[in-house]
Amino acid sequence: MSWRLEFPEGFWWGTATAGHQVEGNNVHSNWWAWEQEGKVNDGTTSGRACDYYNRYPEDHALMARHGHTGFRLGLEWARLEPQEGVFDEVALEHYLAMLADLRARGLKVCLTLNHWVLPNWFAERGGWRARTALARWERYLRWVIPRVADQVDLWITLNEPMVPVLVGHLIGYHPPCLVDPLAAGQVFRALLRAHALAYRMIHALVGRAPDGGPVQAGYASAVQYVEPLAERGWQRKLETVLAKVFAQVSYKAWEESVATGRVALPFGRRQRIKDLEGSLDFLGLNYYMRVSATVSLNTLSNVQAGQFTAPPGIETTAMGWQVYPPGFFHALREGWERFHKPIYVTENGCASVDEDDQRRRYLVSHWAQMHRAIESGVDVRGYMLWSFMDNFEWREGFEKQFGIVAVDHSDPALTRRPRQSAELYRELIAGNALTSEIAERHAPGVMKRWPVPATLRAR
Ligand code: FCB
Repeated sequence: MSWRLEFPEGFWWGTATAGHQVEGNNVHSNWWAWEQEGKVNDGTTSGRACDYYNRYPEDHALMARHGHTGFRLGLEWARLEPQEGVFDEVALEHYLAMLADLRARGLKVCLTLNHWVLPNWFAERGGWRARTALARWERYLRWVIPRVADQVDLWITLNEPMVPVLVGHLIGYHPPCLVDPLAAGQVFRALLRAHALAYRMIHALVGRAPDGGPVQAGYASAVQYVEPLAERGWQRKLETVLAKVFAQVSYKAWEESVATGRVALPFGRRQRIKDLEGSLDFLGLNYYMRVSATVSLNTLSNVQAGQFTAPPGIETTAMGWQVYPPGFFHALREGWERFHKPIYVTENGCASVDEDDQRRRYLVSHWAQMHRAIESGVDVRGYMLWSFMDNFEWREGFEKQFGIVAVDHSDPALTRRPRQSAELYRELIAGNALTSEIAERHAPGVMKRWPVPATLRAR
């Protein structure tokens, strides 16, 4: 029997990127400086990345040809304020042209104000832990927000703030590579303040959204679905506790803080933060994987190396991340139950172990779970696939390929080559629906492995 999972009318379909990962030559940033020290696992540096900074018309045209209705991109603070207090008008004009180009092609804009990367001067003066960090951030926002205001449909203040907190300051895998719980706590509180301030400033400085509706601002949260690894016995009991702690530390503490306006455990003592309570018009949700909490001697070193244990029979991606589509449904439900605000999926995707088969299985099975969440009453408004093209994957360099468009970084021409998953996405968007025909043709068998109720009913 055939089935058809229809998405709500006007659903936002697009891809997501971050400036540093695609633009190239973000030379005044802290990541650039860190990369020059040979820190990236595959020995690369971001370099020219995808040269999106210059090739954006070609990329936007490709998105439009594939029927995308929106795009998530970021501004690079380091480009716009390369030295403290010195703002680069030419770079800003360049960004304005990029945004105008998207709009002219009928693509809506989701704009990230900070996706981890900092101007090097800011990082060198203590980063988010400096006493004056917030004033510096405010000065930048006061300059930039009004200038881009009429081009932005969705504002993301911060991308995955828990990554700089935990990966940068607790496990030392990203710059500034600290293993310092006190520093992690400081950065957590500073980023809550930075988010609350940005949220308030966007509302104060922007009149209306381009479609005439109210301004829409939020942050993008990295949510994992966390479960104990063992299925029974004392180990399960222990790992259930561990799973709770992991989820609290990795994303729930942040969400609880935003919901209540008070710093949640273990990052604070419930002290109030100005303007924080309820500072989101929508929830931006990034979902990639399930994490199986496991008690073992090498848990910490595994996490540092990005290696998570997966139960038998569960696929992992090139990142070592578990493919677990039902976790996406649970993450969407949980986000909805916490905030009762519209949800935009601001990232979801797969660094495929092969050219594109795993990626297509991943996408089809995750779209079905998103549909299941919508059916269950979650107000999901849009989906931004990570990522448009193969790009600079932070410490993993160019080796991990998340793109529905392939880019060979050793190719001087950096040719864009749409993969079959780009065609799969085009077909989904064209009908605003996932059908059994599309699923079977692109990802044979995957819906039998990960069925959702509507497909079972149809059978
Ligand atoms: C997310 C990041 C994004 C990209 C994907 C794979 O955590 O926000 O920049 O690296 O993971």
